[in-house]
Order: sequence, then structure tokens, then C-alpha cells
Amino acid sequence: MKIFKSISSIQKYLNTQNQIAFVPTMGNLHEGHLSLIRKAKKPKTSIVVSIFVNRLQFNNKKDFIFYPKTLKQDLEYLKNEFVDAVFIPTEQEMNINHSEFKLSFFNLDYKLCDAFRPGHFEGVIAIVMKFCNIIQPHYLFLGKKDYQQLFILKNLMQAFCYPIKIIAVPTKREKNGLAMSSRNSLIQKSYISKISGLYSELKQIKKICKSLNDIKKIEHKALQNLTKDGWIVDYVSVRSQKTLLSPKNNEKKLVALIAARLGNVRLIDNIEFCI
Ligand code: PAF
Repeated sequence: MKIFKSISSIQKYLNTQNQIAFVPTMGNLHEGHLSLIRKAKKPKTSIVVSIFVNRLQFNNKKDFIFYPKTLKQDLEYLKNEFVDAVFIPTEQEMNINHSEFKLSFFNLDYKLCDAFRPGHFEGVIAIVMKFCNIIQPHYLFLGKKDYQQLFILKNLMQAFCYPIKIIAVPTKREKNGLAMSSRNSLIQKSYISKISGLYSELKQIKKICKSLNDIKKIEHKALQNLTKDGWIVDYVSVRSQKTLLSPKNNEKKLVALIAARLGNVRLIDNIEFCI
């Protein structure tokens, strides 16, 4: 496994490769990341993993400072998965402090994480564009856990004609249903008994939602249940898989999304279903 820190050195290496599959990460790797890597494995394809804790996407400074960093262990995992190349640039190398240009959206008004984390998706988009321009992958592997991120990045690739195929990988879960996330290691022990509640509510929504008319009532009930159990809920929302907006008349493919906090840790999760 080769490790690169500079753009010029990784590009020199990539020039010698056939197909490139790219898995961007912020480190603190877990089974969820490893499942992306395992999906990316194909003959004649080089797997490139980036590890970069992207300051630009943290709307909360403390969240950035306390983001778990486990580089030595991450590299061990990647080696065991036979990853071809790891890219670990510095902030300087990624030129994140450029001040002349800023991304803006005219239409980012989904009232999901975009509403609760101002600037977050601008930061994600900026870094993913930089990485894709540097690495020029054929495939970009992203997890379905970050559903709105996946949706926005798919639209971005299409809007700006990136010749990159996005592969969406299903969420990996702990035995208790908790979606795997680097943030899970920050959950206080006293909350452990409550964490399965998030996925239980999602499964319940999937089970009882039979028509678009049910949605408002079901969202409200799930919000009440979580709040009663000590969660501070940002949103519970059922959306169209296609538009990520409220589903219209005959839409059948839906996704329920929740963002909620237990103590200081904000968790997100979702479930796709059809009615
Ligand atoms: O999903 C993540 O871990 C990050 O948002 C990503 C895509 C690596 C960009 O920093």
C-alpha cells in the first residue's frame, strides 16, 4: 500500500493506473468505511482512499477539534483490505484557505441537514470537488448513511459533468441497529441504552406508512417518541427518494430521515421504503 501526502506524488502514481475507485473519508475508519472499500474491489481497479478531516464542513468548531483521529489504526485497516493508495494531504496541500472563491447554492432548501448545519454542504462539496479534480476517479464510493450528502453529490457530478460514477453503498449497522459512524465513539455510556431508538423509529415508519396522507401524523409520532426518550430532534421527515422533497401525489419510493442528538452527539440515519 502506497501512502501519498502531496498532490504531485499521487498524480504521478495515478497516471500509471487503469481504473480508479475513490473512497473519500475523514479517518477514524470503521466497518462502514471498510464495506465501501470491499465494494470498490475489482480487477484492474486501483482503490484510493483519502483521509482528511475537512475543517470546511464543520459548522461547529468544537466538533472539528474533537473529531476522533486514529491514523495509525486507520492505516492498519487499509493495509489489511489491500487498498492500493492512501492520500493524506495537509490543509495547505488542499489549499482550503483560498478566500477568493466561495460556493453558493440557489436552491439548497431541503430543510434537512442543510437547515441545521449552515455551511456544511458547501464545505463537503468544496472538498469533494477538489479531491475529484486531483484524483480523477472513475468511481466514487459513498455511504447511504449520509443520505443528503449522497443526493447532493450525485446532483453535483451531473450538474458539472464530472465523468464519475457514484456507487451508493448501504449503511452498516451495529447489532443494536445503530448506523456505524465515526461519531459513535463519542456517545456517552449513559446513553447506550437509548441509541437503538433512532433505527427503531425508522423501521416503525417504514412499517406503518402506507399512504402519503399518513406522513405528517407518523413524523409527529416519531418525533414525540424520540423526544420522550431524551433525544433532541432536529428533524424526522419522510421524503421522495427522487427529489428529497415532500413526496407528491403518486410517488412511491420514499425515504424516512432523522437527525437527533443524544447529549453532545448528533446522529443521522435513514431508511428507504416503498408504499
Ligand atoms: O462523508 C464523509 O466522511 C465526508 O463528508 C467526506 C465525503 C469524506 C468529505 O469530507
